Order: sequence, then C-alpha cells, then structure tokens
Amino acid sequence: MDIEQLKDTFRQRYGREADGAVRAPGRVNLIGEHTDYNDGFVLPIAVERETVALYARREDEEGNFASLQADEPASFTLTAGPAIRPGKPAWANYCRGVAAMLFREEVPLVGVDVLFSSDVPLGGGLSSSASLEVATAYALLAAAEQFKAVPDMRLAQLCQEAENKYADSPCGLMDQAIAILGKKGRALLLDCRYRTTRQIHFDNPDVVAMVVDTHVKHEIAAGGYARRRAECLRACEHMHIKALRDADLQTIAGNEGDGRLSYPEVHRARHVVTEIQRTLDGAQALEAGDYEGFGKLMYRSHESLRDQFEVSCDELDAVVESASKCDGVYGARMTGGGFGGCAIVLARADKADDIGKTVSADFEQRFGHAPSLFTTHATDGASVLW
Ligand code: GLA
Repeated sequence: MDIEQLKDTFRQRYGREADGAVRAPGRVNLIGEHTDYNDGFVLPIAVERETVALYARREDEEGNFASLQADEPASFTLTAGPAIRPGKPAWANYCRGVAAMLFREEVPLVGVDVLFSSDVPLGGGLSSSASLEVATAYALLAAAEQFKAVPDMRLAQLCQEAENKYADSPCGLMDQAIAILGKKGRALLLDCRYRTTRQIHFDNPDVVAMVVDTHVKHEIAAGGYARRRAECLRACEHMHIKALRDADLQTIAGNEGDGRLSYPEVHRARHVVTEIQRTLDGAQALEAGDYEGFGKLMYRSHESLRDQFEVSCDELDAVVESASKCDGVYGARMTGGGFGGCAIVLARADKADDIGKTVSADFEQRFGHAPSLFTTHATDGASVLW
C-alpha cells in the first residue's frame, strides 16, 4: 500500500496532516471452522493483506470516518455512547460499534479524523470486517493515547461485540482475536472458551498458504451462518450441555438413539466435535513440521464442512478437488464461514505458481470466471505504523 499517496489523500480530505497511522490484517483460518462459537479451538493466521488507518486528533469529540473503498463518509460523536446507532453508510457501522464499545468500557476517547485504505477483499471471507473494526479501535486508542486501557483479548471481544450488535452479524471471536494477536511466522491456537492462546510455529519458508477467492457469495451466506449457530445451540439443548465443546461422538450417538437428536443437529454436532479434535491434532502436526499430516486433516475438515455442516458449495469443492491433484499440495479446504468465499491450499512454495495456474484454469473452465489467488505467510497482528 502506498502510504505517501494515502497521506496526500488525507491532506486533501481533511486539510491537515495525519498524526499517525495504524494497521490491522485480514486472516485465513488454517483449521477449526465453525468451532469458535461452540467454545472450541481455532487455528488462524494473520495474512499479508491489511486495513491501514491514518488519523488526526480533533479538538472536539467528533469522529469523521472515510474510506478509499467506500463512496460515502460517516460522522458521529464518539462520546455519544449508546446513542450511537447503526445507520448509513452501512460500512461505518463497524466504526460506530467499536466507538460505542470503547465508550462503554470507559475509555476516554478524543475526536478524530480517520481515513482507511484496505487491500483485504471486501466481503471475500478474509475478515475484512474484523480488520476494519480492529483498525478503528487502534486509531481511536492511539489518538487518545489509551492503549493500556484495554488488554488485547478484551479488545478482541469488544470488536466482536461491535460486529454482533452493530453489523447484525452473529460471528464468533476468531477473526478479531487473530487480527490483534497474530504473530509473524506463527499460527494462533485460540481456545475460544477460556480465551487462552498458544502461538504455533508456522514459519517454514518452503511452505506457503495459498488463498483462492472464488468470488462467489451465495445468497444463503448471511442467513445460513445464523441458522448453523441456532442448530448448534439446539443440539446442546437436546443433549443438556452448555456448548458443543462438551460433547463427544458417543454422547451424540446416545442422544440420537434416544430420539432427542436428529438431522440436522446430529450432523452439525458431529462436525464440531470432530473439527475441534482435528484442530488440536493440527496444531501438534504443525508444531512438529508435519505438513503431510496437517494436510490430511485439512481434507478431513473440508469433507466434514461439506457433508456434515453443509456450508461448502460447488466452487469451493472444485478448488479443493483440483488442488488435491496437484504436485506439491499438502492439503486444501474451504476457510471461513462458507457458502462461497475462499479456500486455502497448503503447498510447497516452489510449486505454488504451477498449482495456482492449474487450479485457476480448472476453475475457469468449469465456472466461466477466474478465481483470484495470492500466497501468504503468517504475519503480525495489528500495530502502530507511526
Ligand atoms: C466467520 C465468523 C467466525 C467463524 C467462521 C467460521 O468467519 O466471523 O467467527 O465463526 O465464520 O469458522
């Protein structure tokens, strides 16, 4: 991203220099899908795509937010707290939510002018929204010199709550946590029940994560995610447990036999229970540098998301299938919420170009449009640039 150009745009828009800049990355999840809101484990990395926010303090308490990726800017009083309501333009609801949550947390905010620029594909399954929330939080905290006021994990929870309440998206904690806690060369093993973390080595330069964006967003995406959450909750009620993390395959089978659990709950529960185990096994495999072993778990994860959790689609299945036939691929799976979006392919770095060409050509031949593709290593979570 060209920071000098962004500084110029800031100057043109606000008539003065920016005081500072912060960044927050997008993410791709290596394994552990639809487990975060079931109190399970996830294993994402922060990717080399990010949202940058330039900011300048104001004398009053107004927040002005503009983005190179949006036509319309937004303004509201940062200290209005609960009086900050979701509104138009919709993209700024992430900013409104974060400001409201920081206010509730009693962080003394100061007025700011903010300009965002992002190369995280919007709505493409790489958590562009979490990177916007976290970039907003960092800009507000930096302007108010209040970083110490909110510990990292708490900040992730506040950003998640902002998305839940202001963007009407019932997401779990994964995206916001990795956008803050990501580390270069590490994947983040996050225990979503106890909110504890372990940084797992993912720094072999010969291995890359390839992100394949299908550019597909199926209609069902928004409602489908909420429905899956509700099905998981129902499964818990039938089994009298707090979260699917507390279930195992035996309990599920027992309840199925008793007639308490039936389709779709039983399938959703099976996915979550096995996916949590695959995530723990995956972290161990990665730590040992066993990419073959990790890749096999990725394929199992994809099958489970396709057949049990039913959140894949033809385009994602096609990417996984075509990648699986390429030399140098360890494993592949859909990543994120599903119903379109991205797949991730774990591959040998020296084969990545060939793999990319094959997967793209197969995809284009079948669906009539090319996916976009980039390779990434694990990078750092949000930071202050200057
Ligand atoms: C979306 C949500 C996350 C998580 C994934 C599925 O990305 O934002 O919280 O639930 O789906 O693993």
